Amino acid sequence: MKVFITGASSGIGQALATEYAKRYPGTSTIIGLAARRSEHLQVLQTTLQNSYQVTCLTYPLDVRDHGALTNSATDFIQQYGAPDIVIANAGVSSGTHTEQAADTSTFQAIMDINVMGLVHTFQPFIKAMRAQGHGQLVGIASVAGIRGLPGAGAYSASKAAAISYLESLRVEMAPLNIAVTTIAPGYIRTPMTDVNQYKMPFLMDTNIAAEKFVDAIVRKRRFVVIPWQMGVVARLMKLIPPVLWDWAMKKAPHKPKLDWDWL
Ligand SMILES: NC(=O)c1ccc[n+]([C@@H]2O[C@H](COP(=O)([O-])OP(=O)(O)OC[C@H]3O[C@@H](n4cnc5c(N)ncnc54)[C@H](OP(=O)(O)O)[C@@H]3O)[C@@H](O)[C@H]2O)c1
Repeated sequence: MKVFITGASSGIGQALATEYAKRYPGTSTIIGLAARRSEHLQVLQTTLQNSYQVTCLTYPLDVRDHGALTNSATDFIQQYGAPDIVIANAGVSSGTHTEQAADTSTFQAIMDINVMGLVHTFQPFIKAMRAQGHGQLVGIASVAGIRGLPGAGAYSASKAAAISYLESLRVEMAPLNIAVTTIAPGYIRTPMTDVNQYKMPFLMDTNIAAEKFVDAIVRKRRFVVIPWQMGVVARLMKLIPPVLWDWAMKKAPHKPKLDWDWL
């Protein structure tokens, strides 16, 4: 098993790396771990290598940097060949308000990380996957991309773009025998949701979420919402006409704003 995961320094990405190591222990499992915080990646690398005898490669990078991802993909492929699975999981979330000029740069960062980050992550692996005759690209979207959430225009727009982009890619990649899986999580307990002051329905722990994500990846699901209860909500959200949506969202809680430095 060879897998490359972005956003592996925290939350869902870290849990996915751990789940792959647990499920496929031993030296033939190679896990590429990418994110900006190299010290977190190194701790995870040591833990997984010692606990499950897998091999981890760490790639400290920003997914906005296509060149950095190209170099990492080249290094991974040179050492171990094309990965079986690439998971573009890195993402950020922050409240944003269009009327506030200072939020424009936050909009830009969220779109660059959550949308262009997917393209930058997948692109350098496709040629090698094509040559090996198989592969799977996995994008982590969000239920927030199904409809526009007030106070989270940038995040909702970025995840809506991610869902559409991944759908285009799925059809493009099919003739190359490269599967594309879109996972739209509901609420998962990670540092991204720990800051939320409001009630989060069907909140799921990361280790359980990671098991379900990997199950969906094994089954080559095209599009899946996890947890399933949120999938039912997502279906209903799609059906609601705009006038009812506006009414329902009037009192919806808003995502807190992050410090610009963090982005
Ligand atoms: N938690 C939820 O309820 C939930 C729901 C729906 C969707 N999601 C999506 O799931 C994914 C993972 O989120 P999470 O909940 O696990 O949040 P998290 O704990 O905050 O993790 C986000 C990860 O993305 C990485 N990242 C952020 N910006 C990056 C950049 N510019 N370059 C490289 N890596 C970057 C972070 O690493 P560094 O800071 O070290 O770079 C971190 O490893 C995101 O795409 C998020 O939108 C989460």
